[in-house]
Amino acid sequence: MNFRSEITGVGSFVPEKIFTNFDLEKLLDTTDEWIQQRTGIEQRHWADANTSNSDLGLIAAQRAIKNAGLMNKDIDMIIYATLSPDHDFPGNGCFLQAKLGITEIACLDIRQQCTGFIYALSIADKFILSGSHKNILIVGSEIHSKGLDKSPNGRNISVLFGDGAGAVVVSRKELLDSKKDSRILTTQLFADGAFAKELWIPAPGTALGADRLNRQMLEEGLNFPQMNGKSVFVHATKKMTECLLSSCKEANIELSQIDLFLFHQANLRINSKVAEMLMIPEEKVFNTIQKYGNTTAATIPLGMDDAIKAGVLKKGMLVASAAFGSGFTWASAVFRY
Ligand code: UT7
Repeated sequence: MNFRSEITGVGSFVPEKIFTNFDLEKLLDTTDEWIQQRTGIEQRHWADANTSNSDLGLIAAQRAIKNAGLMNKDIDMIIYATLSPDHDFPGNGCFLQAKLGITEIACLDIRQQCTGFIYALSIADKFILSGSHKNILIVGSEIHSKGLDKSPNGRNISVLFGDGAGAVVVSRKELLDSKKDSRILTTQLFADGAFAKELWIPAPGTALGADRLNRQMLEEGLNFPQMNGKSVFVHATKKMTECLLSSCKEANIELSQIDLFLFHQANLRINSKVAEMLMIPEEKVFNTIQKYGNTTAATIPLGMDDAIKAGVLKKGMLVASAAFGSGFTWASAVFRY
């Protein structure tokens, strides 16, 4: 039998507490005007002290499994994408598995940052098409707020990030009509480690001398993200454009046939630039950065769920997705929802 991978369920969750740009003005020597003009962000959700990354992931996962018409026991693999896990190890897939009450399935954590969801989708697709797995749960979840420098020193980065989770279930179905069936058509994954330190968190780490973490590292703020914003911006625009085109080519789809573009949400100006370069009509790009900020691995499934709820993404539509982030990593996917 020929198989196809179909996204059968989507779910998301964001913490209740909203931090507007005006709230950040009180902490970070910034202004609502600067943040909106440079990034498009108006607000973001930040979790409270007692909420963990896997708590957010759990709710998103439960919603995705329910929307797929499945029970927790039907899931036979979890792929968890995050850069802000509950603990250094084990990975969040295991913590989530326990919370879902599922035993003896494979749990895989991946760390491709803003590109994590598309990497996870690609891995799930391959496992499904091989015939070894039937229902794979992908979760992208982040709690950035607990790891940001909330002093004026961190203003160039801390205004950008928000907390949230998104999840999808990818299921094995019989391929009946390759032109009409809902399925993942293609995924393309890339990285260039020469740029690893353009967007990174140095500590804790084993490359820093005798300690993974010590007082001096904390005093130097090495536990906070560090970014060359301009370099990220330039590369993101170029690479997202390139990989969107190459994915469409591989899927034998014209860009104009795509019904909806679900891009990673790092900066509204990046997405506008990509759309402009490819002559994509603005109404075909679904942006959520205004209300969530950059939620890294959660961004695309969270946006997908919002698009479904808004009636913008409907079954049978052709979707193209692209992301760029730390690593540098970048990736794209074309699927019929
Ligand atoms: O998924 C990957 C995640 N990251 C990205 O994709 C980031 C990509 N890069 C960007 O989005 C943009 O580079 C930023 C939004 C981060 C920055 O925008 P920019 O237009 O490149 O600004 P800049 O870094 O050149 O800074 C311009 C000015 C500077 O002041 P001076 O030197 O001109 O006096 C900064 O100190 O803005 C200042 N600045 C701020 N001012 C108010 C930097 N951050 C802030 C802030 N509020 N939060």
